[in-house]
Amino acid sequence: MKTGQMAEKPFYITTPIYYANDEPHIGHSYTTILADVLSRYHRSIGEEVFFLTGLDEHGQKVQQAAEERGIDPQQHCDEMAPKWKLLWKKLHIRYDDFIRTTEPRHEKVVKDILTKVKDGGDIYMDEYGGHYCVGCERFYTEKELEDGKCPQHEKELEFITEKNYFFKMSKYQQKLIDYINENPEFIQPQHRKNEILGFLRQPLEDLCISRPKSRLSWGVDLPFDHEYVTYVWFDALLNYVTSLGYGSDPEFFEKWWSQAIHLIGKDILMTHAVYWPTMLMSAGISLPKTIFAHGWWLMEESKMSKSMGNVVDPMELIDDYGVDPVRYYLMREMVPGQDSNFTMSSFTKRYNSDLANDFGNLLSRVTRLIQKNFGGELPEWGECTSAENGIKKVAEGTVIKVNELIHAMRINEAIEETMQFIRSINRYMEQQVPWKLVKEDKSAAGRVLITAAEALRLGALLLQPVMPNRTLIVLETLGAENTKLVWGQLKSGNKLREHSALFPRIKVNIKLPDKEKK
Ligand code: ME8
Ligand code: MG
Repeated sequence: MKTGQMAEKPFYITTPIYYANDEPHIGHSYTTILADVLSRYHRSIGEEVFFLTGLDEHGQKVQQAAEERGIDPQQHCDEMAPKWKLLWKKLHIRYDDFIRTTEPRHEKVVKDILTKVKDGGDIYMDEYGGHYCVGCERFYTEKELEDGKCPQHEKELEFITEKNYFFKMSKYQQKLIDYINENPEFIQPQHRKNEILGFLRQPLEDLCISRPKSRLSWGVDLPFDHEYVTYVWFDALLNYVTSLGYGSDPEFFEKWWSQAIHLIGKDILMTHAVYWPTMLMSAGISLPKTIFAHGWWLMEESKMSKSMGNVVDPMELIDDYGVDPVRYYLMREMVPGQDSNFTMSSFTKRYNSDLANDFGNLLSRVTRLIQKNFGGELPEWGECTSAENGIKKVAEGTVIKVNELIHAMRINEAIEETMQFIRSINRYMEQQVPWKLVKEDKSAAGRVLITAAEALRLGALLLQPVMPNRTLIVLETLGAENTKLVWGQLKSGNKLREHSALFPRIKVNIKLPDKEKK
């Protein structure tokens, strides 16, 4: 689908690189699907897209997970990587690069940047004490603790003192504040930006960027002291430039880097909006265009996470309901700036009302009437009346609105806008009653049906980035796989193809006790 406009700037989007200690859950799936939907949309309007995801394989969490399994950390990561890739495949994620931080291309970049930052005088050695949370892989100050516990993991933290290398993050505090103020697109949504500016009102401390090998050996060796490995965040954040060939392919790097959009969850806002830009400033690299932090998926009011033991397994959901409904639910349900509750009842409700009723029924209604009355061939367009012009106008308005909303990353609103359009096609059908009209004025009924089919085609194209599979069924049925996002592409006389029910209704009205579930 092409809107005919000139290709704009390239679109570079990243997800966090997830910790290789765990198996993926719905939370990780959300960020990755969001990146995939945005990528597919931008590609569909003719933009060049580069979509990066991957795994964060160093650090204490991964080392501990491997130790618990009694295997080497590299082996552990080598076993985890295919699991993540399999889920992305099942979720129809089309990334351009999957980076693993244990790859030589990445370790080289980490060492190069560390050397550059050290040569610039921004790394020094000092003794330091702090409360360390393995879950977050960071030190907390006394003030940040809640009842002596990590505010995110609610665990008692150990106080550790050791000699380490520090990055002069404090030196860049004012420069960062100025940058954030001058670039309103940099941290989004707005309330996250205010959160960071609020944090930056306190003096910024320097960042401990090393771990003595006696405590942690699983990481990238510091190029200037082999007794230490690199702090996992200083290593991991650099993945975003490694993938673009930083230091090895300057042309490729320049082309994409200035357009970078980092999608993250709010749990890692601080590392992305404070550590990362100051690291880049010290290394003499420009800053990414946008850091977009979405909220959390909650289960009964607490964050869904492996450490809380309340995760939903995306594989099971896909097996039970199909990929596209899962993608749809996650994208439609969450307002990206806020937290969302994951519940099976809201899943079923969305599925049955939006997908089965509004979208799926429209397709079967239109095709059934065309089969019955027009031998399965798309009828003649005929003379448009104000009703047809009305639908066309809504369609064109929706295409423009969706484009704006997706560029603003308001994906849930873009979907709702499209669903409202689909509901308006259903209303058009109810007002025009082609099943009655056909008895008095067959050509008028034909006009209504091809208009509804055309509107449905546009609706399917707009939903294609979210539900690539099921929308293809609609387009194939109408013989419209390669059509554009402009009104009036369906050809009279085209034979409709057979299709199965687009979204069979989920028939669960009662919640069974856990024991009775299959
Ligand atoms: O933090 N709701 O990896 P991680 C929404 N390796 N999103 C969620 C979520 C939830 N309940 N749970 C996880 C790390 N996510 C580092 C990142 S990047 C240089 C290094 C998503 O495995 C969300 O995107 O803990 C969150 O930021 C990310 O997974 C954290 O993944
Ligand atoms: Mg985490």
